[in-house]
Amino acid sequence: MAEDHPQTMVTCTAPVNIAVVKYWGKRDEQLILPINSSLSVTLHQDQLKTTTTAAISRDFTEDRLWLNGKEEDIGHPRLQSCLREIRRLARKRRGGSQSRDTAPLSLTYKVHVASENNFPTAAGLASSAAGYACLVYTLAKLYGIEGDLSEVARMGSGSACRSMFGGFVQWVMGEDADGKDSVAQQVAQETHWPELRILILVVSAEKKPMGSTAGMQTSVKTSFLLKHRAQAVVPERMAQMIRHIQQRDFEAFGELTMKESNQFHATCLDTFPPIFYLNDISKQVVALVHRFNTHCGKTKVAYTFDAGPNAVLFMLEETVGKFVEVVKRSFPPENNGGQFLKGLPVEAATPSEELLSAVVRDPSPGAVRYLLLTKPGPGPALMENADCHLLGADGLLRSSSS
Ligand code: DP6
Repeated sequence: MAEDHPQTMVTCTAPVNIAVVKYWGKRDEQLILPINSSLSVTLHQDQLKTTTTAAISRDFTEDRLWLNGKEEDIGHPRLQSCLREIRRLARKRRGGSQSRDTAPLSLTYKVHVASENNFPTAAGLASSAAGYACLVYTLAKLYGIEGDLSEVARMGSGSACRSMFGGFVQWVMGEDADGKDSVAQQVAQETHWPELRILILVVSAEKKPMGSTAGMQTSVKTSFLLKHRAQAVVPERMAQMIRHIQQRDFEAFGELTMKESNQFHATCLDTFPPIFYLNDISKQVVALVHRFNTHCGKTKVAYTFDAGPNAVLFMLEETVGKFVEVVKRSFPPENNGGQFLKGLPVEAATPSEELLSAVVRDPSPGAVRYLLLTKPGPGPALMENADCHLLGADGLLRSSSS
């Protein structure tokens, strides 16, 4: 970078997470404070990640943002909350310091941000969690802010605070009105349960479901079941889930994961007017998992669904090959040229005829677009290599990333 153009640029990556104890409902819309604690597994960035570059320069005339190669309005209130909070923390950090006026990074300088996902947004995989986690982590690195930033990420999107850590992460709901104690904490590292695998079934869906933000607002207003769940069910389930993870008890973990997903979708049905996130294919996946487990005589596979029809399945490594064969026969891939199996390699397995005849029913060709295999992974990371930057030395989007 030219000497007479003081500019600093930082690039970081952040992961997607999938909740096994669901967050649904806010007690404060502005600060994004939840009505219950939640817990998630951070997915590996080798398969799913957001990359964000942030640059600051005295030459920039306005804050600017590019998402997946397209310039977007940076005025979105949640983006502004994160930016404001980061700048406030940066100012606080500099406060009283002698270097205030001589610091190369003036806090009045404008910032340019570019962000992209390594998976298609159309796949329906929640990207806002990774997106906001990455934005906050990157800006913090740019401004040299240390410490827990899950509180800032939370102001972008609730679930984003859990993407600030790797492995198994809880978001403690907190009690304070200012949200200071509503933060994410790591429960166990990504290496804690090496055999755990996550298989995402991206299903074909015609319409975009109602977004989480609007959906949970209606649920908080109208669902008595949601209120009961938040007060009487989740506290105990959080403790149980943490125990099952610590003990690497797959059967207990899997069963509770499924019950959590089912109760979340029950609160959606209890919302008035009701919200439906599961479609017929999702329901076929639920039935298939239960038939598989019944045949095996124990919980070998567990499903969970967020605010959309894609199924996220947990299983141990030993089950993957066999279960993938079952999925292929239940939802035969349509020959549309694309790869059906993505992510980590799947070891070939030959399921017995007995298993197939007990578990596979009425195949639905093309209903599942593709499978993506991943595992628990680490939290956000700084990219040391300048080749990773999504912005050029001029602070504009690099053409290769568009
Ligand atoms: C069903 O975090 O997307 O995925 O805080 O309004 O941005 P906002 O909502 P968001 O909601 C996620 C809901 C969920 C469950 C979960 O991730 O815990």
